[in-house]
Amino acid sequence: MQTPIDATATPAWSRLTELHIGMRPDLRAWFAQDPERAERFTYQVGDLTIDLSKNLLTDDVRDALVALAEQVDVPGRRDAMYAGERINVTEDRAVLHTALRRPADDALMVDGQDVVGDVHRVLDRVYDFARRVRSGQWVGVTGKRIETVVNIGIGGSDLGPVMVYEALKPYVQDGLECRFISNIDPNDCAEKVKGLNPETTLFIIASKTFTTLETLTNARMARDWFLSALAERGIAAEGAIAKHFVAVSTALDKVAEFGIDPDNAFGFWNWVGGRYSVDSAVGTVLAVAIGPENFADFLAGFHAVDEHFATKDPAENAPMLMGLLNVWYVNFFHAASHAVLPYSQYLHRFPAYLQQLTMESNGKSVRWDGSSVTTETGEVFWGEAGTNGQHAFYQLIHQGTQLVPADFIAVANPAHPVTDGGVDVHELFLSNYLAQTAALAFGKTAEEVRAEGTPEPIVPARVFAGNKPTTSILAPALTPSVVGQLIALYEHITFTQGIVWGIDSFDQWGVELGKKLALEIAPAVQGDAEALAAQDPSTQALIRRYRELRH
Ligand code: F6P
Repeated sequence: MQTPIDATATPAWSRLTELHIGMRPDLRAWFAQDPERAERFTYQVGDLTIDLSKNLLTDDVRDALVALAEQVDVPGRRDAMYAGERINVTEDRAVLHTALRRPADDALMVDGQDVVGDVHRVLDRVYDFARRVRSGQWVGVTGKRIETVVNIGIGGSDLGPVMVYEALKPYVQDGLECRFISNIDPNDCAEKVKGLNPETTLFIIASKTFTTLETLTNARMARDWFLSALAERGIAAEGAIAKHFVAVSTALDKVAEFGIDPDNAFGFWNWVGGRYSVDSAVGTVLAVAIGPENFADFLAGFHAVDEHFATKDPAENAPMLMGLLNVWYVNFFHAASHAVLPYSQYLHRFPAYLQQLTMESNGKSVRWDGSSVTTETGEVFWGEAGTNGQHAFYQLIHQGTQLVPADFIAVANPAHPVTDGGVDVHELFLSNYLAQTAALAFGKTAEEVRAEGTPEPIVPARVFAGNKPTTSILAPALTPSVVGQLIALYEHITFTQGIVWGIDSFDQWGVELGKKLALEIAPAVQGDAEALAAQDPSTQALIRRYRELRH
């Protein structure tokens, strides 16, 4: 096992420390003195134009960040990941989500197996299934075509599919609707099956492990609902499960135990992390919704960014630079969070999706060799679609005491171009996207506030300090390819940060303890006195109170 290189012991880290101490951020002056700043710090990655110029970034800082990437060997670890080395050390697994989007003729041999061939064999089956559902060739137990697809999964088996379904709504086939059940809260399943016709509903049970409590409980509840809804209509259940339940998993034996026909199951591999799996068979619901051709474009979008990340030198490598900038903010400016603000209503679930990608990956305190991390890791990612966020939390970003680096994402062409009184509404929307990053970067001085006639005691409240770092990302339109590009961009940003911090960004041991305790506590909640006595005093009191309140 290659020992992680301690970033804080590198010459580049010392240089960054010096640069941070000497830095007096002044984006107004930096732009005024350097007319090429915007151009110099703007990068093109596939269809994404990425402007880093409103960051607290100078040429010296960029050079030191690039040196840091080289000194901790981000390029070497990247190459190891792409080649299928077992860089997920604590689970002893390869990390090959990039293989999920390689073209069919781009073979990759890992342990004597062509993983790209395997990927395309499954994709072909997923596409064939999607075509049959979309065309009406696949019919339910009473011969009717499918109108609703319900995906049951959680975490990586839910967040990606939901986010992309929402993002690509304009591409969803007319007459098809998808719903998503994830939470073990029984209200989730109850609300999502409301109004559904069992004869025209298809369930996809998506679980990498096929052991997840939430998903298996929801799958059983959905099956019960389905069978009783059929019974209410006087329809015999025989053969119905095979026509209305399919599965996606790495554990095809468990799928069969659940009662789903293995012919209706789509596999993937343990080298695909759950949060990196939307581009595997976990995306089956999407292939049905948007069609195989659009799904292939989605994968091609990922691949375009994978190629950029794999081949560009660190100084020209936008995902790497964005990851390094995040390190700069977390470790030198002590930024505890990072906002992602899509100026596209269709991307409203993108921040939630990124929370799993970034925080399950980089929320770690030990390095991949078991030693403690040597600096802060894993900022909180959060956000909301613009302009809703502007009327909620932007106040804190503009004038609060915490530094919150923010990514602003927009597209040039809306799916629904409309005017209001002759004004293009999308342009009004984009004006907000542009205005916010300008306000954050350049602020408003006391002199400017006074010049507007503001009375003195109110002046400080109306001053904007500026120098709040933002990245602007602009794409031509929210196509399947662009959505794939955005996901791959953030995957590689997350990877870069993880390597600098020396952590395994591909395990998630931190979610295990709560899962185990929930199973131990369940009997106490259900009234078992012995199990109750084994709990801590606070938990015991809460359970007693719950049992008093429960009808
Ligand atoms: O939350 C932990 C986790 O293991 C995630 O990493 C994963 O995406 C999710 O649970 C769901 O797991 P599965 O797809 O195996 O049901």
